[in-house]
Amino acid sequence: MNCLTTIITPQIEKIHSGKVRESFRIDENTRMIVATDRISSFDKVLDTPIPGKGAVLNKLAAYWFKETKDIIENHFVEVIDPNISLVREATPIRVEMIVRGYMTGSAWRSYQQGKRTVSGVQIPDGMKKNQAFDEPIVTPTTKEESDREISAKELVEEGWVSAEIYKAMEKTSLKLFKHGQAVLKERGIILVDTKYEFGLIDNKLVLIDEIHTPDSSRFWSAENYETEPDNAEQLDKEYVRSYLLKHKKDGAYPNTLPNDVVQETTRRYRDIYGMITGEVLPEIDNNTRSRVHANLVRHKLIKDGFVAIIMGSPSDLDHCNKMKDIMEQYDIMVDLRVVSAHKNGENLGQVIKEYNNSIEPAAIIAVAGRSNGLGGALAANVTVPVINCPPFKDKTDQMVNINSSLMMPSNTPAVTVVDPKNAAMAALRTLNLPRLKTRFEEEINEMKSELKAADKRVRGR
Ligand SMILES: Nc1ncnc2c1ncn2[C@@H]1O[C@H](COP(=O)(O)OP(=O)(O)O)[C@@H](O)[C@H]1O
Ligand SMILES: [Mg+2]
Repeated sequence: MNCLTTIITPQIEKIHSGKVRESFRIDENTRMIVATDRISSFDKVLDTPIPGKGAVLNKLAAYWFKETKDIIENHFVEVIDPNISLVREATPIRVEMIVRGYMTGSAWRSYQQGKRTVSGVQIPDGMKKNQAFDEPIVTPTTKEESDREISAKELVEEGWVSAEIYKAMEKTSLKLFKHGQAVLKERGIILVDTKYEFGLIDNKLVLIDEIHTPDSSRFWSAENYETEPDNAEQLDKEYVRSYLLKHKKDGAYPNTLPNDVVQETTRRYRDIYGMITGEVLPEIDNNTRSRVHANLVRHKLIKDGFVAIIMGSPSDLDHCNKMKDIMEQYDIMVDLRVVSAHKNGENLGQVIKEYNNSIEPAAIIAVAGRSNGLGGALAANVTVPVINCPPFKDKTDQMVNINSSLMMPSNTPAVTVVDPKNAAMAALRTLNLPRLKTRFEEEINEMKSELKAADKRVRGR
């Protein structure tokens, strides 16, 4: 639990999930970017996350956004959790501005095969692996299904960006890169290459995405480069890569890392952060998920808990809205859904996954009357409480059909509450939120004193 691998919640819309980061829509102008602890190597996300990696990435980007704001305005607003930042929503320009200071990586691989241009930029003959270019070069790619090398001229011709804006992007990218190189040089790090993304906010060019993080840049240690320039190793990833290479089996890299490799990788990421910012990161939290939950609630981005009301048919909406109204008075998020266990059971899997993994305390009210398959199918598969509240037309309907809610197979822990108000109150209680417990206590005491007052009134003394 000391890693954040994803954020799942019905309360905010996930608009993008990349290899490492996840983006959520907060409102029209605000986006939330979560740097998870996932790590990718050789273009694949490993099953083993790296504790603290997300915080390093998120806080480094924040550090650089603040550090470079006089060079260009950027999207950064605030860090709301070690792994999370809020940023301003931009209209992204679908171009990655890659700036290279050294002949390495994919440029070197194609150079070796005889290619003398990268994204239309001419490269002289006779360069050696990892050799510095006389001047950093900008080699853009398009942001598509698979990124494509493209020249500045073609970018404009194909309509990815106007000539004027491209020029500004190029100039700014070089400025940012040279600044980054100079700052990092003082800290014993070589900024080898990196990529920038830009967008428009109110028609103004701004820097978006991330900047000078290990995931968007290649860092070498200056010392390592000096001693063996053609074997310089990437400060962050090389260690994981060499483990994977060493343990390649039948042509495939392992998907997991052993504990000691994870710990060492954590240490390396935290070291990089320290080298760059001069700050020591706080200890890694034991329960990242509850920390994230608390921070999202504190910033009013989510309610502290939710109750999903899942109905088998939209004809039960009125019945469900009764419960929704009650629960919303307690400042809880209510997620109304229509999923029939019988008719579109295939969708149930997705719903179950979402609720099982959501970061907030949750409960489900299943609403299905005649032959309640829904409550059972949910209760047998979810890790949150399930309350059946079947809707009935009349007492006869209730007499005939209540058993399908009451009689559950083994390991199917659904409870049944007939009255919708009671079901809502029971669901709220299962959330076990301290603020709600205080409120229920007050309500119980109020009810008691009302009864006492009534007793006095009726008795007359
Ligand atoms: N302020 C912003 N406004 C709009 N889009 C943004 C902003 N910042 C970053 N983005 C976009 O969010 C996405 C982040 O994706 P990312 O997590 O890097 O995964 P990948 O690049 O692998 O798809 C990118 O498409 C990036 O252009
Ligand atoms: Mg990206």
